[in-house]
Amino acid sequence: MTKTTNSVRPAEGRIGVMIVGNGAVATTFMTGVLMARKGLAKPIGSMTQYDKIRVGSGTDARYLHYGEIVPLASLNDIVFGTWDVYPANAFEAAVNAEVLRAKDILPVEEELRAIVPMPAAFDKRFANRLDGDNVKNCATRWDMVEALREDIRRFKAANGCSRIVVLWAASTEIYVPVNMKVHDTLAHLEQAMRDNDTDNIAPSMCYAYAALAEGAPFIMGAPNTTVDIPAMWEMAERQQLPIAGKDFKTGQTLVKSGFAPIISTRCLGLNGWFSTNILGNRDGLVLDEPANFHTKEVSKLSTLESILCADKQPDLYSDYYHKVRINYYPPRGDAKEAWDNIDIFGWMGYPMQVKINFLCRDSILAAPVCLDLVLLSDLAARAGHSGIQRFMSFFLKSPMHDYTQDETPINHLYQQYTLLKNAIREMGGYDADEPLD
Ligand SMILES: NC(=O)c1ccc[n+]([C@@H]2O[C@H](COP(=O)([O-])OP(=O)(O)OC[C@H]3O[C@@H](n4cnc5c(N)ncnc54)[C@H](O)[C@@H]3O)[C@@H](O)[C@H]2O)c1
Repeated sequence: MTKTTNSVRPAEGRIGVMIVGNGAVATTFMTGVLMARKGLAKPIGSMTQYDKIRVGSGTDARYLHYGEIVPLASLNDIVFGTWDVYPANAFEAAVNAEVLRAKDILPVEEELRAIVPMPAAFDKRFANRLDGDNVKNCATRWDMVEALREDIRRFKAANGCSRIVVLWAASTEIYVPVNMKVHDTLAHLEQAMRDNDTDNIAPSMCYAYAALAEGAPFIMGAPNTTVDIPAMWEMAERQQLPIAGKDFKTGQTLVKSGFAPIISTRCLGLNGWFSTNILGNRDGLVLDEPANFHTKEVSKLSTLESILCADKQPDLYSDYYHKVRINYYPPRGDAKEAWDNIDIFGWMGYPMQVKINFLCRDSILAAPVCLDLVLLSDLAARAGHSGIQRFMSFFLKSPMHDYTQDETPINHLYQQYTLLKNAIREMGGYDADEPLD
């Protein structure tokens, strides 16, 4: 076993959590943290607050919370800020989102009212269904970057923060394919921002660039390509900062990444996996637009490929049909319902079916993921990590990986968990001793 030197900088001072988007996920996350620190709610579902992992082995083995192994920021040190296209403060937005009951919001009404979203860096072409007017007036993408950098500097100074983390919990933008003439190097990306190349530079890229330029880790909670391009990897390395993404892994994909290993471990075959959802929140409204849904579809479809691998088991996985749908259905609000129909086959090819009906709550599942990604990104920054943080794949539907080097993503939930545990052990000065089978 053995604990070696722990070189992670301590979590001193206040940490500013600046969230892009002041919608259902953001307000549920912020309300939960504010309630938890008053002792009025529990941060259930959060790995950093609940999980215990082994450090050491044999007679030295001990099971500890993450915060007992590494210096995590305390919930009491968090200060929240947001940007949004709509001007509603976080209290009004939490009420509008209809995720939480009044009794779970009112005790922190004052704190939430004080969170007034800064004007958004927004381009309607990237989310056509939104029509708010709390938007920055910027002539170019580079102007957006400058204005966002100014917001971050001002927020940090006004709140006396020692560190900032920027989290994207805003709407899914339309699909921006990776363009290797623009997204390949930092120099090309910066030039495109100055040239106001609005096709290749999504507003989310301006947030990410601004965050990194101001020394803040950036997390992409939607499936947007934003930081999943070589130019941003270069920026993260240059700034010596971690980046994480893409797309919070919450309901259906969590189930998928946990259930697919049952099929592969048991050497059963797969003919098809059909996943459909109904949801009625604003996220569902934006995703009802085909160009926005396409971004989500690419993310959701990627999960199975690296778990049920045709090249490793051609008899079992060479020809399965994977389809994902999201249907906007307003009466359901945030209470999403997901169905999975899984057509498997067994001995001598005989077919069987599995049906999973998950009646989940989207933002209730996303909020602890936000907390964990924020605390772990801050930790990784203090540990001197930079670039893509594969150990956070556990929390993400479409985990980033260096596709230019043919690196495969890890989608298998239990392999992701091993990566997470080993990273915590390592940052805590213990042996990262669990093999990734
Ligand atoms: N809830 C989940 O389980 C889950 C899982 C994975 C990913 N996500 C993603 O998280 C994001 C947030 O989901 P939500 O349910 O809170 O959505 P929401 O519609 O309630 O909130 C998103 C907010 O972002 C704002 N916004 C859009 N573009 C912006 C910009 N450029 N700058 C600032 N604000 C902007 C919108 O005005 C809106 O208020 C979505 O992209 C969603 O796909 C959610």
